[in-house]
Amino acid sequence: MIVGVGRETAQGERRVAIVPETVVRLEPLGIEVVVEAGAGAAAGLLDQAYAEAGARVLAAADLDREADLVVRIQKPTPAEVERLRSGQGLIGFLQPLIDPDVTRAVAERGVTAFSMDAIPRISRSQSMDALSSQATVSGYKAVLLAAGHSTKFFPMLTTAAGTIPPAKVLIIGAGVAGLQAIATARRLGAVVSGFDTRPVVREQVESLGARFIELEVEGEETAGGYATQLSEEQEERERELLGEYIADSDIVVTTAAIPGKPAPLIVPEEGVRAMRPGSVIVDLAAETGGNCALTERGEVVVREGVTIVGLLNLPSTMPAHASQMYSRNVMSLLGHLVTDGKLELDFDDQITNETCVTHAGEVRLAPVAA
Ligand code: NAI
Repeated sequence: MIVGVGRETAQGERRVAIVPETVVRLEPLGIEVVVEAGAGAAAGLLDQAYAEAGARVLAAADLDREADLVVRIQKPTPAEVERLRSGQGLIGFLQPLIDPDVTRAVAERGVTAFSMDAIPRISRSQSMDALSSQATVSGYKAVLLAAGHSTKFFPMLTTAAGTIPPAKVLIIGAGVAGLQAIATARRLGAVVSGFDTRPVVREQVESLGARFIELEVEGEETAGGYATQLSEEQEERERELLGEYIADSDIVVTTAAIPGKPAPLIVPEEGVRAMRPGSVIVDLAAETGGNCALTERGEVVVREGVTIVGLLNLPSTMPAHASQMYSRNVMSLLGHLVTDGKLELDFDDQITNETCVTHAGEVRLAPVAA
């Protein structure tokens, strides 16, 4: 089976779906990798490294013709969909629920597609979970961005010029990105607090050395471990109760998300106004509308003296490790789907059933675990 890795064409995308290290490890599955020339360049992975790992480096047109299955990160553009062949396989973040048109177009081409964001969050598929691997990168980078924009030190310093108190960091939403943000802020020496509407994360927050903020706002958790949307009154109450903690923080990193829904509004305009000038908000939910009312999608802005970072696609800013992690996730998924160099699809298997979003000309969406 020939797996093709194209150059990502989305603006600013520096990751590549398969790294040379993985090329070698796919061989025992009966998989040969072909790579478009320059595909890994933005991640620091040169064609020569792919060639040394045993991949063939091809021009895009040859790759389209040869590949039995194309692996990518971002969903294909309409022009890229046109280049897919009937019977070909495709793996990528297709976001079938957010952008159903692309998935429909892929189905109409007769392509069997697997969406990396549809991998179930179960222990058996942890090694394939690209949402988690990329969220880990985002959580880490969010804190580094916050530190970079902050007007203060993170750690406590005792110096001849006096003592500097540690920065106060608040992380809202303690899922994968939030927990990584907590760990990173702690390592930089800040005093860290965390909040999430799922009380089960309290222990995880505390085990990282942060304080879990106890508010009387609790949401439900789905079978898949996700938060459900709060009622309007509960959301209002959360904004009210978190207000004093936000105002007292030097840094706020917001990561709150509900799958398939716009991000909840957690920091209203008055919340920003109440913060000390020079404080920083990094809004990881900027992609889905933002947790802060003053976030501008894709921008860094200063409002009311507070720097608000709404940059998108943070994993792409650390393309070497983000690609390595994604590549291992893909390898693990291929290990699940491929036997002796052939796709063997068992739709009675939860991972295959939920991840395969187009097959035999149809869009197939397994019901999301409620
Ligand atoms: P996510 O990106 O959908 O959401 C981020 C966080 O925001 C979640 O922890 C959610 O509870 C929180 N949140 C939502 N609304 C909020 C609000 N109004 N205020 C404060 N916080 C709010 O979630 P992510 O990081 O993708 O994963 C969430 C959970 O999924 C994990 O903590 C875990 O339980 C489960 N999971 C399971 C895996 C497995 O077993 N293989 C792998 C990864 C995640």
